[in-house]
Amino acid sequence: MAIEVYLAQEKIQARIKELADEINKDFAGKELHVIGILNGAFMFTADLVRHLTIPVTLEFMAASSYGDGTVSSGELKINLDIKKDIEGKHVLIIEDIVDTGLTLKVLKKNLEERRPSSLKLASFLFKPARLEHPVDIDYLGFEIEDHFVIGYGLDYAGRYRELPYVGIYSPEGES
Ligand code: IMP
Repeated sequence: MAIEVYLAQEKIQARIKELADEINKDFAGKELHVIGILNGAFMFTADLVRHLTIPVTLEFMAASSYGDGTVSSGELKINLDIKKDIEGKHVLIIEDIVDTGLTLKVLKKNLEERRPSSLKLASFLFKPARLEHPVDIDYLGFEIEDHFVIGYGLDYAGRYRELPYVGIYSPEGES
C-alpha cells in the first residue's frame, strides 16, 4: 500500500480558517444549524466549527452511497437522521467530498423538504471529473483531480480516516 501526500495538514488548516471567516461574515447576526455528514466529514466539521464565532448548533447525519470499494453503488441510504426541526432555520451541510454528487443531491432534496430558511453546503473536496449530478457548493475547501483520496476523514474500506492530511491511495504494492 502506498500513500502519496496530496494536501498537507498546514494547507488544509489554512484553507479551513478562510472558509470559516467567510461563513462568519455571511451569517453575521444569524444563528446557524450545522449538519455534519458522517462518517467522512467528522474531521472537517470539527475543525471548521472551531473557527466559527456566530451562534451555532450542531448535529450529525449519516448517509452512505458507497460500499467497500472505490466505485459508487449509486444508492443513498440515510442511516442516522437529525432530531432538530429545521423549518425556518439557517442550515449548513458539511460534507467531505462531492464525487458523483449523488449523495448531496438526495440529501439536499431531503433537507429542503423540511423548509429551512436557507440551506448551504460546505464540502471539503470536489472532484469535478466524476460529477454526474450537479450540486451547488457554497463553501469549497479544494477542487481535486480524479484520484481516490484518503485521510482527513476519508476512508478506503473503513481505514485511514484518522490521517491529518489527504493522501492519494494506490493499492499497488499493498502488503
Ligand atoms: P458521491 O455521492 O459520489 O458524491 O460520493 C459521496 C461519498 O463517496 C463521499 O461522501 C465519500 O464518503 C465517498 N467518496 C467519494 N470519493 C471518495 C474518495 O476519493 N475517497 C474516499 N471516499 C470517497
